[in-house]
Order: sequence, then structure tokens, then C-alpha cells
Amino acid sequence: MSAANADPDVRAVTAADLDRLVELQALCFPVEGWTRGMLAEELGRPGGIFLGLGSPLVGYACAWAVLDELHLLQIAVDPSERRAGQGRVLHAALLREARRHASAGWLEVRADNPAAIAFYLRHGWQQVGRRPRYYADGTDAMLFRLDPL
Ligand SMILES: CC(C)(COP(=O)(O)OP(=O)(O)OC[C@H]1O[C@@H](n2cnc3c(N)ncnc32)[C@H](O)[C@@H]1OP(=O)(O)O)[C@@H](O)C(=O)NCCC(=O)NCCS
Repeated sequence: MSAANADPDVRAVTAADLDRLVELQALCFPVEGWTRGMLAEELGRPGGIFLGLGSPLVGYACAWAVLDELHLLQIAVDPSERRAGQGRVLHAALLREARRHASAGWLEVRADNPAAIAFYLRHGWQQVGRRPRYYADGTDAMLFRLDPL
């Protein structure tokens, strides 16, 4: 899927970013982060949206557009660059891209991740459920929905 969007700073993430993606994964998802192989698979997935900011990347957003639904998988910003609006820019670009195909969105977020929960609530997502012990370490997932996108 193309990264066509209205923000000139946002670009498509490619296989050339893989080393930096692995670094960001370790920095941003110390628990249950994706492996290099999983990241490579997401980069090539039909229906996938993988957008980034900066070279080298300071942050990225990754999602699937399945039929008319967006499934937001990860949004991450380098810890040294947070609270400067980079997450907001990535989220806005992701929704712009997704609206070409999707009308509503889903995501799961760890219940022990208050920064991400605050971020999603700030951007209009609403909690619609909870999946007990969803993650391998026994942490619950909170299920969020954004409808319409
Ligand atoms: C969630 C994340 C992507 C936010 O990125 P960011 O660039 O810091 O976000 P922004 O600066 O655009 O923040 C936008 C708004 O979200 C909310 N927010 C973001 N981080 C927050 C925090 N730590 N505590 C409370 N609210 C927060 C605020 O309302 C903020 O606006 P403000 O700074 O004007 O108060 C970042 O914290 C991150 O990478 N976390 C680790 C990975 C992760 O957990 N991702 C989400 C699950 S996939």
C-alpha cells in the first residue's frame, strides 16, 4: 500500500529501515516486541500500512487494513523524541491513509501502558472491551475502537 498522504515528513517504511526498526522495537517494546523476522513480514504484508518519520526513523506506525476496518498494530516514537507531537503526526497520517479503505478502527493496548492509553484516548479512541490475560505475560489487553475513523 502506498504512503500517499498530505504530510511531507511522513514516508513509507521500507526494508532499508529494518536495522533501525529493530533498534526502535527494543527501545519502545521491551516486553513482547517483534523480532526482525516479524518486522520484515509486516513490511511485505498485502494490505499493510507502514509509515515512518525521519531518516533514520524517529517513529513509525504499522496497521492492517482488512476489508473496511483498520487494525492498528503498533505506533512508536523513540523515547528521546516523545511528547513533541511525533506520535500525533504518525497517527494522523495513518488515519488519512486508512480512510481510503476503512471506515472504523480497532486496536489492543496493554492495560499496563498508561502513556499509550492516554495517547489513544486523546485521539478519540474509546475503550469497548477488555481481554483478560491476552498477553503472554498475563497482562490484560484493553480493546479500543474508533468509529468513524
Ligand atoms: C504512545 C507514543 C507513540 C506517543 O508518542 P509521542 O510522540 O510521545 O506522542 P505525542 O507527543 O504526539 O502526544 C500526543 C498526546 O498524547 C498524550 N500522551 C502521549 N504520551 C503521554 C504520556 N506519557 N502520558 C500522558 N499522555 C500522553 C498527550 O495528550 C499528548 O499531548 P500533549 O503532549 O500535548 O499533552 C509513545 O509514548 C511510545 O512510543 N510509546 C511506546 C510504544 C507504545 O506503547 N506504543 C503504543 C502501543 S502500540
